[in-house]
Amino acid sequence: MQFVIFLSCLVRNLFVGAAWGTIMMLMFAPELPENPPAPGDVSHVPLPGAPQLDTSSDPTAQFVEYAGGVDKAIALLEASRQARPAKPPRNLDGAAEVVRLESVTKFYKLGRQRIEALKGVSVSVKAGEFVAITGTSGSGKSTLLQIMGGLDQPTTGQVTIDGRNIGKLRDRKLSEFRNKTVGFVFQFFYLQPFLSTQLNLEVPGMFAGAKRGPRKQRAAELAGEVGLADRLRHLPKELSGGQMQRAAIARALLNSPKLLLADEPTGNLDRTNGRAIIDLFEAVREKFNTTIILVTHDPEIADRADRIINMQDGKLL
Ligand SMILES: Nc1ncnc2c1ncn2[C@@H]1O[C@H](COP(=O)(O)OP(=O)(O)O)[C@@H](O)[C@H]1O
Ligand SMILES: [Mg+2]
Repeated sequence: MQFVIFLSCLVRNLFVGAAWGTIMMLMFAPELPENPPAPGDVSHVPLPGAPQLDTSSDPTAQFVEYAGGVDKAIALLEASRQARPAKPPRNLDGAAEVVRLESVTKFYKLGRQRIEALKGVSVSVKAGEFVAITGTSGSGKSTLLQIMGGLDQPTTGQVTIDGRNIGKLRDRKLSEFRNKTVGFVFQFFYLQPFLSTQLNLEVPGMFAGAKRGPRKQRAAELAGEVGLADRLRHLPKELSGGQMQRAAIARALLNSPKLLLADEPTGNLDRTNGRAIIDLFEAVREKFNTTIILVTHDPEIADRADRIINMQDGKLL
């Protein structure tokens, strides 16, 4: 009998305990978000260096925080745009025209196939202007940049750089012109692997026939400008990606070009180094009034330019 009473008390206590536990949990449990991130989904984790959104009160920001992906990228871009002080518009009135393309086409032949990489592009860029070219892959951005820099000739149309019709220049004159007037920066840096930073920076000076002393001094000065003064004796493989690209920019500036062309210069770098490279381009433009034309897929980088040109299927939009 005593055992039956003991058993019934135990069952009742267990039941009452469980009921209390449930009530307490419902009352005091922390509120869970409606769409918690899936395990392994890091889209709600802020990108390094990105401005933090205050999600405590703003329902849109709360949504963005959990939605991730494109919406989050747009919101972060907007926030960083607001965080940066507005750039005063650059006054280009009276500035000389450094690039002028008129009805430029470029066709490639691949066997029987004819590829129309550029379908009549006309554009003008002034001295000291910073232009970003964006567009889907295959839309003709690199072809356009190579034609602007005299690395390739158009099929039809006129290309005038710094007042010279470069379609009329023959090989030797064209490479001389290129070496003096244009600096190139590429996604994969293209530093000479067996040359030190110092010698890599001197290469354009060697082609231009600059004397050894001034050439060395200029290379060392430019290394200082891009923050590589203590890396002059290093080989490219001993530099980080960001340092290699800074060396490539210094090399491009060696002959003081009026025009700097950069094809996805941050495409191989992380976000922080990519930003540092764009800061450097801005500093170069401020100091030397260099015209900068840069191809990029990154909307945050394009946003730093004075003007964005969008390309699609061989044409400017
Ligand atoms: N040397 C080449 N020979 C044949 N086709 C080419 C050559 N270079 C580029 N193309 C073609 O021209 C088009 C534009 O290429 P590109 O200028 O490299 O585009 P983007 O830089 O915008 O990705 C693409 O269809 C590409 O395949
Ligand atoms: Mg390209």
